[in-house]
Amino acid sequence: MKANELRQKYLDFFKSKGHAIITSASLIPDNDPTVLFTTAGMHPLVPYLMGEKHPEGNRLVNAQKCIRTSDIDEVGDTVHHTFFEMLGNWSLGNYFKKEAITWSWEFLTDEKWINLDKNRIAVSVFAGDADAPFDQEAYNIWKEIDIASDRIAKLPKKDNWWGPAGITGPCGPDTEMFYWAGSKYVPEKFYSEDKKWVEIWNDVFMQYYKNENGIYKPLPQQNVDTGMGLERTLAVINGLDDNYQSELFINIIKKIEELSDKKYGHADDITRAMRIIADHIKASVFIIGDDKGIAPSNTDQGYIVRRLIRRAIRYGKQLEIEKQLWTKDLAQIIINDYKEAYPELEKNKNFIFKNLEIEENKFSKTLVIGERKIALTNTAITGTVAFNLYQTYGFPLEMTKEIIAKKGLKIINEEDFQKELKRHQDLSRTASAGKFKGGLADASEETKKLHTAAHLLLASLRKVLGDHVQQKGSNITPERLRFDFSHPNKLTDEQKNEVEKLVNEAINANLPVIINEMPLFEAKKGGAIGVFTSKYGERVKVYIIGDSLSGQSAFSKEICGGPHADRTGRLGKFKIKKEQSSSAGVRRIKAILLS
Ligand code: SER
Repeated sequence: MKANELRQKYLDFFKSKGHAIITSASLIPDNDPTVLFTTAGMHPLVPYLMGEKHPEGNRLVNAQKCIRTSDIDEVGDTVHHTFFEMLGNWSLGNYFKKEAITWSWEFLTDEKWINLDKNRIAVSVFAGDADAPFDQEAYNIWKEIDIASDRIAKLPKKDNWWGPAGITGPCGPDTEMFYWAGSKYVPEKFYSEDKKWVEIWNDVFMQYYKNENGIYKPLPQQNVDTGMGLERTLAVINGLDDNYQSELFINIIKKIEELSDKKYGHADDITRAMRIIADHIKASVFIIGDDKGIAPSNTDQGYIVRRLIRRAIRYGKQLEIEKQLWTKDLAQIIINDYKEAYPELEKNKNFIFKNLEIEENKFSKTLVIGERKIALTNTAITGTVAFNLYQTYGFPLEMTKEIIAKKGLKIINEEDFQKELKRHQDLSRTASAGKFKGGLADASEETKKLHTAAHLLLASLRKVLGDHVQQKGSNITPERLRFDFSHPNKLTDEQKNEVEKLVNEAINANLPVIINEMPLFEAKKGGAIGVFTSKYGERVKVYIIGDSLSGQSAFSKEICGGPHADRTGRLGKFKIKKEQSSSAGVRRIKAILLS
């Protein structure tokens, strides 16, 4: 089976069960400060899982592109990726466990759909703990379907609970489906620890909200969030025990073989390096090629993409790839393989090539400087010095070791490298935990007001600077708004004052915030702004601020999921605290509302 066929079957199946097909959202979340990337299909749907009305109804299905960097150390095995696609069906307070599980089973095993061997399937359910009870209901449904008790594992929160995607948000117990990717002999008893049992699908019953104090509160509506890993499922359907052998990777791997003149599968370290390169460059292509266009930089998403590219290049060195600017060769293949499902990659391909080239050049220079530094050394290097080389020049420990080994030198107190690394990671984790606390996922009054302020800010920036201004990202906590937008130059004081003035005028006019639902093309025709792509012509919500009856046009019209304040008068006084560069061609404003 081909990837396109599997995607289509999934969408068709759930359409036949009354679900509306929606387009994959951007990889860069809007407004949500709790994560850098869309890590799961549920992510862009958080406002709707929390009770906002979705314009397409309460049964949805999609294929969502995702980035999950938490698994980065596992990339290199057969099933983990930083970029992957998640097929998902959603109930927004509509159906619950019975339908979700029955449909999952039907899709997996019915010969009309993907026709997997029933005897190779096992499942797990939530065992229960102090926060929530054993999921007897899910267990009973699987028993009714006739799954043997030995094939139903009862597992704790660490395995059978999903969410929240960030620190706070919707979450709940889940039931997971596994497929035996091993030999013909299928063990009677299911052990989730056995790697041959590959997890392919997860049905989450989102009925709780985890708040900033770590308390699980029942949600007003009971939701279903399911996620099927496209790469894994495609591999098992085709009888492969390695995702990298499937259509979604094979062309990339072949190109790496050609570039390195080495063979995939011949030695473990070579195979692992090839998988890491394939995975990281694919993730980079999708992040840079997103319609929100993230370039490598030293902050946030840009920093992740920088690390992914550099890590791939390092593994390229390990494979002794000599060609310069080879990451572009891989990008070309990835764009070809994916452009039908994700047309934005073709559209943004020059931006992708340009940024890979810049980053590869930058990193090469860094490596040369680092190499020179090490070459000048005639004494052993300490772990701390090696760490500084790593910090300053991105110079990996293994390379430092290799180079000084040629001179018969070695690293002393190597454990200090790991200690420093750990200290540094802990520091940055604490910093990001602080930065990412709270969020629009709370839908608190403060965040709603700041969200409405973000719309007023974008409209004002376009009035003052021009229509080239597009939103590049927005990050809202109860305390402040951080807003990225495309504009080539630093704002002058006059421009900043003018923007602030316009926003405050709109607030003082106490304009109503109105929601209109319409097809995307109509929204765009009517002048609504928003980075939103649609392959299925779905309906969107347009938030209109100040569509006055006096015949004047609205102050702001934006495609958006909400939620918002109902009138601008509630916002208080808008103040820009800072305006600075975010990355090339992108400016960042930090702003607050004073009561
Ligand atoms: N959110 C769940 C997951 O990521 C199911 O979609 O696995």
